[in-house]
Amino acid sequence: MASQRKFVVGGNWKMNGDKQSIDGIIAFLNKGPLNDDTDIIVAPPAVYLDYVRKGLSPKVAVSAQNCYKELKGAFTGDISVTMIKDVGATWVIIGHSERRHVFGESDELIGDKVKTALDNGLSVMACVGEKLEEREAGKTNEVVFRQIKAVADKISDWSHVVIAYEPVWAIGTGKTASPEQAQEVHKHLREWLSKNVSPTIAQATRIQYGGSVTAANCKELAKKPDIDGFLVGGASLKPDFIQIINARK
Ligand code: PGA
Repeated sequence: MASQRKFVVGGNWKMNGDKQSIDGIIAFLNKGPLNDDTDIIVAPPAVYLDYVRKGLSPKVAVSAQNCYKELKGAFTGDISVTMIKDVGATWVIIGHSERRHVFGESDELIGDKVKTALDNGLSVMACVGEKLEEREAGKTNEVVFRQIKAVADKISDWSHVVIAYEPVWAIGTGKTASPEQAQEVHKHLREWLSKNVSPTIAQATRIQYGGSVTAANCKELAKKPDIDGFLVGGASLKPDFIQIINARK
């Protein structure tokens, strides 16, 4: 049975798009139909946050893909939570596996960023997920628990946090975790929250699945009791994203 938690679907555009293709995405999102029972968020590249916010229906929230842990200063090339808010975006993705593994971000930095974002009024999609070799070595729980602990150690208010479970081997590979594989990790994450944070927060916190979600596989994944939404990369750039938004309909 589906849970009472509100379904939440994010589209992570990564480093893709230009004004022309973004106009196309805005057009299909504004046309919908968008499910009122689902929180919908898109995360364009930072330079387009303002452009997207101005063109997009207010039914869709806008997110940054990253931010720094400080609010201003000599941090060339980075962006702050206050800047993200200033252009009307309300969310930020933190700890995406590409930030961890391409840019070398540590668990500690990610925890600090989540804290700064929450303390300054943004909602956060906090990402965790194991690499293929970690899964094969039986270390999936160890890895995702370590990653979530680094966040839990820095924050106390979970009301504006969504966890995104994204197995690294499933991201952009076309190799989706099966609904059973995803459900298993989501359940373990919820148990971890229950034991280490609180049972109430564990019940209320939404856990998205990410990694090669498509219009074809989203409905089966969405039926699992601990899967409360998706974080979608490639498929969020295409009109198929509307079907993913409506996976629970
Ligand atoms: P993908 O990316 O849907 O293209 O696999 C997911 C993500 O990285 O959030």
